[in-house]
Amino acid sequence: MSAFPQTPHFTGLNRPLTEEYDLDDLVVEGTIPAEVEGTFFRAVPNPTFAPFIEDPAIALSPDGMVAAIRFRSGKVSAAIRYVDTPRHLAEKAAGRALFGKYRNPYTDQPEVAGYDRATVNTTPVFHGGRLLMTKEDSLAYQVDPETLATVGRFDFGGRLKSQTFTAHTRIDGKTGEMFFFGYEAQGLATRAVSYGYADKAGNLVREQMFEAPYAAMMHDFTVTENYALFPVYPTKTDLARLKAGGDHWIHDQEEHSWLGVMPRYGDVSEMKWFKGPKGVYSFHMFGAFEDADGNLHMDQCIGNSALFYFIREASGIFMHDREVGHRVERWTVRWEGAAEVQTTVAGPPGDFPVIPAAQQGYAYDHAWMLTFNPQRAVPPVVGGVGNALFDTLLRIDFTGKPPQAFTLPPNGGFNEPVHVPSREPGHEGWLLAVADFELSPDSSEHACLIFNAGDLAAGPVAKVILPRRQRPQIHGCWVSAEKLATAK
Ligand SMILES: [Fe+2]
Repeated sequence: MSAFPQTPHFTGLNRPLTEEYDLDDLVVEGTIPAEVEGTFFRAVPNPTFAPFIEDPAIALSPDGMVAAIRFRSGKVSAAIRYVDTPRHLAEKAAGRALFGKYRNPYTDQPEVAGYDRATVNTTPVFHGGRLLMTKEDSLAYQVDPETLATVGRFDFGGRLKSQTFTAHTRIDGKTGEMFFFGYEAQGLATRAVSYGYADKAGNLVREQMFEAPYAAMMHDFTVTENYALFPVYPTKTDLARLKAGGDHWIHDQEEHSWLGVMPRYGDVSEMKWFKGPKGVYSFHMFGAFEDADGNLHMDQCIGNSALFYFIREASGIFMHDREVGHRVERWTVRWEGAAEVQTTVAGPPGDFPVIPAAQQGYAYDHAWMLTFNPQRAVPPVVGGVGNALFDTLLRIDFTGKPPQAFTLPPNGGFNEPVHVPSREPGHEGWLLAVADFELSPDSSEHACLIFNAGDLAAGPVAKVILPRRQRPQIHGCWVSAEKLATAK
């Protein structure tokens, strides 16, 4: 087996994990709130074999692992398993990497021509009793939430036409319906976008196809009570480039962004496209809502260029992270209004926004996100896809109240938090987040921290020690014990 390159993508906190494991009776400091009863699922990208090809976007390609931290009557256990995709199984059997550059099958070894290239390394989604592992470049894979064993590729029993399924579905906080999309839905570099929704029980109700203004990385989308909103930012792909062995993503600084809006139960022929600023990119929206005056508001973590430094570099855009102008920005449009989005700065730099699940599709007055403490002089801890871990968990208030924050020690980095609602009126619930602490280039410590979501500054109310190495996750999801009992 060839050695991994000694680059930040494969060293330090990003050093590949070499084992799957189950750990019982984890040590807990503090008291786990009784309402934290269920499982925190995490998507952990982990490269099994060293790449055989140079690829600026190598950080997007690792195999997907599904990690679970289970809370049962005050006891905590943890487990992690590979998702057994055909790609992972083929490479495991060969004992080496067979798949080439990110989302470019023209760079693969000939023996895997035509293979499903899915890694599903981005987001665990629980809906209709199914745990799905997802990534935007393929269909989802269903995983058993109890054993973490892979059930297989998920396409609603053969009914889904799209070749891709987003890592960012939206589950309506009131109806329980799951809205989703897939881009490059009819093959590599196609402008086709699939839009669909499933009922609360997980049955596909409708899927339609529309064309995006150009073939772009559409990472997230959002819904309001009556509309579906599809932002398109100019990180683009091109089939001729792929066939020549090139990169999937090149950012076009001179191209406009767009926001497609249609009635969420309507027909794609009703889509209206609103023009947005040039050159911007956002991975994640908080959510969107309608106000009493008929405006649609969408909040997002945005910057003035591609947000991954390696996509900027591959695109010939030489801009330091500090120059990208990261911020929370609100985009406002009216269904019967001007054809351009109105932009308002609504918060600080950061990412991984989380709103309470019950507010999904509806107005929210606060949210949580990760950010950097602006007072800290030391550089961020290297780790994760972007090679920089956020050090601060932030509660942002959209009604004008001051933010609340908790910052880790200088060697620590947060992974995306999940929110556990409280049944107590007026209580904002709990936030769970795994923190990674770098001790030396070869050693680290890890813990799952639990916060009172309405009082972050007080620090964690409990800390679960994770005694084995973790690799930084991408997204996570919380599934209550009650919901887990509905698992199919
Ligand atoms: Fe994401």
